[in-house]
Amino acid sequence: MSKAAVRSSPRRKPAPSSAASSVGRWPHRHLLQLYGLPAADLRTVLRRTRTYAEGLPASLIDPHDVGRGGKDFSHELRGMVAANLFFEDSTRTRVSFSVAAARLGVRVIDLTNMGSSVSKGETVGDTVLNIAAMGADAMVIRHRSSGSTHLVVRTLQERHESAARKGGSPVPIPSIINAGDGRHEHPTQGLLDIYTLAAAFNRLDTFDLKGLTVVILGDIGSSRVARSGVAGMTALGARVICVGPPSLVPAAFTTLGCEVSHDLDAVIHQADAINVLRIQFERHEIKQPGAAENAPKATSSNAIASIREYHELYGISPRRAGHMKRGAIIMHPGPINRGVELTPEVADSGRSMVLRQVSHGVAVRMAVLGLCLGAR
Ligand code: CP
Repeated sequence: MSKAAVRSSPRRKPAPSSAASSVGRWPHRHLLQLYGLPAADLRTVLRRTRTYAEGLPASLIDPHDVGRGGKDFSHELRGMVAANLFFEDSTRTRVSFSVAAARLGVRVIDLTNMGSSVSKGETVGDTVLNIAAMGADAMVIRHRSSGSTHLVVRTLQERHESAARKGGSPVPIPSIINAGDGRHEHPTQGLLDIYTLAAAFNRLDTFDLKGLTVVILGDIGSSRVARSGVAGMTALGARVICVGPPSLVPAAFTTLGCEVSHDLDAVIHQADAINVLRIQFERHEIKQPGAAENAPKATSSNAIASIREYHELYGISPRRAGHMKRGAIIMHPGPINRGVELTPEVADSGRSMVLRQVSHGVAVRMAVLGLCLGAR
């Protein structure tokens, strides 16, 4: 069994999926990380993504990708309930999971720190046990602690097994989907970045990324997007180079199967795609004891000398983008610090796939929900 997922146990079956026939077998009930997921499983979810993308309204998906539109998938998971548990802020991922669930007929319950009993000190473990006891079929979880979704799965399994041993009625185990856990992984972001690459380079038939060089640029050490990207892209054959200042790009990243460079100008001409990451000032911040939760967000970091210098050396300006290959693309998971890692001209240019990524995210999340909730 891969570390990325836990195989399914008996559960209520969703309606037969019209998308299911086009993809391979998917043995995972949860999606916690891309690291360790075999290429065949990545291709299964990407093929299912394509099926959904082809059915989404044409306005959502670039017509060159697919986007014939007009299909109704709402019967596929009708009657199921998903809980979005976002203990850390999000715009794209949270809304995208809600849109994806709605398109599959899943009802979504939203829970955040504010307005939940987490603000009264309830632990994440108790929160998920309570929501599982209400019968949610899936939980989409974002949390600032790396490894938190693994902990959630373990908590649910232990409670389930302990109740079964005692002859009680076990708490059902919903599908757990990692929507970003600290610096660890953001698997659906990794998948939508891969899908965007495949669409841009005409690889939607094979999802084989051999021959493509992807630069992942910026605050690599803080980034769950980088870890998911390296795992998924290298598994599908891409060459990945993580680039940024030594203080933000740990040399140990090479053990994940990528290369590391601190000189963007030395490698930019090799890139077919640059995935530009935000500097996550909030993860560099050392919280003072007793500091208020709503204290102003950090905008500086000890890891870089100055934002101006960072932009000079690692920011993508029109001049620097001019050194990229013809046809090379720029991606960014968002949110963008305009003027820091990307100038507004580049962010809104023809090379930029930023909004295309967001659109693909809906189809990716439909695929993940469809596969995990239909896992058998
Ligand atoms: N890309 C991403 O995870 O964005 P959000 O933080 O807005 O969800």
